[in-house]
Amino acid sequence: MSTAVAPSAAPSSLLSSLSQYESYDATPVIGTVFSNKSTQLSQLLEAPNADELLHDLAVLVSHRGVVFFKDQDITVEQQKRLGQKLGELTGKPETSKLHRHPVSEDVPELGLEISVISSKSGNQRPGYQTKTRASRGWHSDITFEPVPSDYAILKLHTLPPVGGDTLWASGYEAYDRLSPAYQKFLEGLTATHDGNFFHELAEKDGRKVNLERGAPENVGSDLTAVHPVIRTNPVTGFKTVFVNKVFTKKLNELTPDESNNVLEYLTRHISDNHDLQVRYRWQTNDVAIWDNRVTFHTATHDYAEHREGNRVVSLGEKPYFDPNSKSRREATGGYQKVSEASRLSLAGRG
Ligand code: SIN
Repeated sequence: MSTAVAPSAAPSSLLSSLSQYESYDATPVIGTVFSNKSTQLSQLLEAPNADELLHDLAVLVSHRGVVFFKDQDITVEQQKRLGQKLGELTGKPETSKLHRHPVSEDVPELGLEISVISSKSGNQRPGYQTKTRASRGWHSDITFEPVPSDYAILKLHTLPPVGGDTLWASGYEAYDRLSPAYQKFLEGLTATHDGNFFHELAEKDGRKVNLERGAPENVGSDLTAVHPVIRTNPVTGFKTVFVNKVFTKKLNELTPDESNNVLEYLTRHISDNHDLQVRYRWQTNDVAIWDNRVTFHTATHDYAEHREGNRVVSLGEKPYFDPNSKSRREATGGYQKVSEASRLSLAGRG
């Protein structure tokens, strides 16, 4: 017999000053939801202890991968301020600002730091795509930049009546599920990430890609970068898998056949393990904040209506691998310790 399970509280040790707001873990592995729409990011930003609250929010996002807020009134300007603050308060380099996407347009009321995510225009999410596998869409934002993203914030203001969910997957958990031998092998590798397909997209609209993209390292027209395959998140200190289906083109130390094989294995490892993912069903004006260093995400193209929102992507540090860092399970004794209350409520299921 199954018992109804009330949403579990996220552990207070991760919530710190945010424990005053109602929240629950969406899955044991990834995702926390602030369930009450009276919890407004706009108010956290203006609070007398804003720096403490936003620091604790960044730490929570880095641990849980993605955090959701319901029905937010946050403006575009506040969204940008929040994007920059999360990284600043957790020690990112001073030169890393908000990303200016290669194909974002300078819309007067938004600016180059906003990517319009739309089924109609901008950074397109074009509704139905029945002839391609949905798993092709898994990615982390802008990994083709030498200094890629730390945090991203997406607010969707226009939604189809049903469909258009977004999924996120945990890079920490993906790492933890590999054998020690495979983990060691990957730790010695680097990958080339390539976003040069954005030139074609820009040219289709009669434009050129933006040449200055938010950090002194992210300049020029070559949209490629080399990063470690396993990186360490500076906020949590945990190791994570850092390759993705959309941008990672090759593993540099391997032959082309070996590289294709390992990339295929890793991307399937992420898309096939639905128990390291969370799927979010949006409601109007919900906001998701994720750590691009430790998660992958993909939209769901199962709708024909208008879906649109604004995304801010902030820039973090140059990715590095610290051989002395630990995996999440090594550091915490298992992901269930990150979410002790979830473990207890799962144990109560008949
Ligand atoms: C994104 O890929 O950053 C946005 C995801 C979405 O459209 O749901």
